Amino acid sequence: MKLFIDTAAIEEIREAASWGVIDGVTTNPSLVAKTGRSLEEALTDILEIVDGPISAEVVSTEADGMIEEGRRLARIHPNVVVKIPMIEEGLKAIRALADEDISVNTTLIFQPAQGLLAAKAGATYLSPFVGRLDDIGEDGMAMVHSLIDMLENYDYPAQVLVASVRNPGHVISAAEMGADVATCPMSVLRQIMKHPLTDIGLEKFLADYNKSR
Ligand code: G3P
Repeated sequence: MKLFIDTAAIEEIREAASWGVIDGVTTNPSLVAKTGRSLEEALTDILEIVDGPISAEVVSTEADGMIEEGRRLARIHPNVVVKIPMIEEGLKAIRALADEDISVNTTLIFQPAQGLLAAKAGATYLSPFVGRLDDIGEDGMAMVHSLIDMLENYDYPAQVLVASVRNPGHVISAAEMGADVATCPMSVLRQIMKHPLTDIGLEKFLADYNKSR
């Protein structure tokens, strides 16, 4: 499974990339706004750090505007993936951009049939939001499971990119289900790396080593 980092914060991206396990980056307008920079400024730095798919989201809500923004973002670098929301106008834009061989990540997917529509429209990535479904008492990973099951019956090239990841359990379930990608905030990347017994074990090994010298 590919692991992306879900942030526009350059220091986090640099730190996670230094671990050697980050395959790409996802951003959204809220994450970019937190940095106080423009999307283009953030993208310039991100593209220098990570050589993989970098999702950059449009802010238009009409198909024509999304297509224009998408083309402009895609021209910045071949690694830029245009993120388009799962709305009617978005579907039109996904089809138009896919027909121009521009990679699209369909965002804000909350039920499997939305993912099927985006796959049919030619999206490269489908982003089901698991944490936000869990937040309202639904089962986000069950939705991902259903989406993966559905896609297995057909040949759409679309990849399932599990988004709105909130904890290590989401990452483990995504890998068990065979999701193509999980995109994680830095906090979850740190959580999946850490186990208290690893730290206790290392402390004991080093203490024993130092005693024996
Ligand atoms: O980037 C999209 C998604 O991962 C957002 O996550 O935590 O704001 O629901 P969250």
